[in-house]
Amino acid sequence: MIFQLSDFQFPETPSRLFPDTAERPWVLEVGFGDGRFWPPFARTFPEAPNYLGVELSGVSLLKAERRLRAAGLSNGVLTKLPASVVVREVIPPGSLDAIIVNFPDPWPKAGHTEQRLLRVPFFQLAANRLKPGGAVLLTTDHDEYFEFACAEAEASGVMRVELAEPPAAALETKYALKWRDLGLEAHHARFVPTAHPDAPPVTAATYPKEESAVPHAILRLPDTLHPQALTQTHFDKYTARGGQHAADPVGWTVVLLDAYRSLAKDGLVFLAHVVEGELTQEVLINVNPRSDGQFLVRLARFGGPIITPGVKAAVATVTAWLEERGAETTNRGY
Ligand SMILES: C[S@@+](CC[C@H](N)C(=O)[O-])C[C@H]1O[C@@H](n2cnc3c(N)ncnc32)[C@H](O)[C@@H]1O
Repeated sequence: MIFQLSDFQFPETPSRLFPDTAERPWVLEVGFGDGRFWPPFARTFPEAPNYLGVELSGVSLLKAERRLRAAGLSNGVLTKLPASVVVREVIPPGSLDAIIVNFPDPWPKAGHTEQRLLRVPFFQLAANRLKPGGAVLLTTDHDEYFEFACAEAEASGVMRVELAEPPAAALETKYALKWRDLGLEAHHARFVPTAHPDAPPVTAATYPKEESAVPHAILRLPDTLHPQALTQTHFDKYTARGGQHAADPVGWTVVLLDAYRSLAKDGLVFLAHVVEGELTQEVLINVNPRSDGQFLVRLARFGGPIITPGVKAAVATVTAWLEERGAETTNRGY
């Protein structure tokens, strides 16, 4: 089953994700590529563990989903999201039996190591999300990344490094075969938590059920911005940044990319790009007329956004953009 960001709860529960098999072990695979690892690996257990696969490539997601279906693995969820977002926001503390990373992108160029997944912050987060006895399992052909990951695990202060033989299924993935053909050998390590550091989710909140909780503002528009008589003829990208304090340590950047006139509602629609660490969302913000002549600025449900501090800030940014052009806000709900 393929999940979008908005299909998840923050954090999740195994009984919601895997209702028929909630009591089974839970494994997360990061960067599953075309999905060759999980079906043969799952067969090495008496009962297939619950599986959450994260991958950035949409094409890979579809290939992997076909493989899960062909193998009859119904207790598997795949999602196209960055691993650190899923581990931080979706996985509850103390819930995973394993995090499996096979042949991660090595980011070999100098200055690119910050892009690597297996660094101190990830290990600290993983140590919180793993169950006692759980581990991060890494298989890679890349000598330098392997040494780097082992050093980062040690430096995290919360992981012990155990060298071991890779699982057989990890040696049959697309990239395992590619590197084997080039004569490269695979290394394998288990990173076992030695502590359970505190690491709460930081950004996410679900789309609220009560309408009043959806970020919004009510304002009066000057005549020049009334959709029927709009005199604004061009739009420059508009950027706002904020957060990075105790309540929002990740911080956010909102870029208003464009604005449109809504023919159906006789209003305006803003397209906003919201960045919070590795989490990015494109959201629409409606500015629609109310019966009292004022306008309601409100996050649109379109695309199933999740309401994070950055998404609330997107509504505030549209409001600020309108205010700079003469709008007068009478009520703020964000
Ligand atoms: C070198 S490929 C290995 C694929 C597969 N594990 C294999 O062995 O064939 C690395 C994969 O990790 C994915 N990836 C990279 N960074 C990621 C991230 N932050 N979260 C999830 N997947 C990621 C890439 O899209 C790519 O498919």
